[in-house]
Amino acid sequence: MKPHIEILPDNDTLARNVADKIQERARCSIAERGRFTLALTGGDSPVPLYQMLAEDPAYRDFPWEKTLCFFGDERHVPPDHRTSNYHQAKQKLFHTGLVPDDNIFRFRAEIPDAEEVAADYEQTLRKYFLPKDQFEGFPRFDVILLGLGANGHTASLFPCTQALYEKKRWVVANQVPELDKFRLTLTFPAINAAREIYLESIDPRKKDAVANVLKAEELNFYPYPVQSIAPVSGNYCWFLTEATAPSHQQKVTSP
Ligand code: 6PG
Repeated sequence: MKPHIEILPDNDTLARNVADKIQERARCSIAERGRFTLALTGGDSPVPLYQMLAEDPAYRDFPWEKTLCFFGDERHVPPDHRTSNYHQAKQKLFHTGLVPDDNIFRFRAEIPDAEEVAADYEQTLRKYFLPKDQFEGFPRFDVILLGLGANGHTASLFPCTQALYEKKRWVVANQVPELDKFRLTLTFPAINAAREIYLESIDPRKKDAVANVLKAEELNFYPYPVQSIAPVSGNYCWFLTEATAPSHQQKVTSP
């Protein structure tokens, strides 16, 4: 599914643009349903966003008290490991103490059995996404953040892995041969039930991947996992910087 694309001049402007959208979505969700559910991601792209939400005065009134923070994927490592997505979010976003601890839901990735970690996280999600908070049997997150890997992966949905075919579970342990490791990840149906999906890419080394995926979309050719992101009844937007956007891509937003 071709996303709506916004191209921003630099990392800072991109982070502000996404932070403003998240803040607006948070206010609307809370007004409509009393809470805001956000799934965070790993990688480098969300770091300026996390820092801005944590430190910029423009977001001082962000309604963290009614925001529930989850994770879209995780590495199979303990929470204090330098590669843990939770660890990154803690250092860049949660460290200010603005997000109540009770509103942060991490994968218990210190558990040795990856399958158990995935089942445990799905249980946690099921506690907070009751049938009324689901869409066609999957959790209806208000916003899910994603990134794009050089090989077209998103979350921990890597090429040629079993998780790509999962149709029932919300969360799986995905054996990734190219990493020779398990990753924990939301599945496509769980991601695609979201109200808003925002994919950020700020790393110039991803320029080719961005171009290849968009080209494949135009050709109706589907070799990249990220192309299975297709919200069933929600919005899908990619936020790119001029350094990651293909040169021919029309600039949609430039504040
Ligand atoms: C992770 C991710 C992964 C990431 C992409 C893009 O935990 O690493 O969830 O899917 O989003 O690899 O990474 P960058 O943001 O660094 O480009």
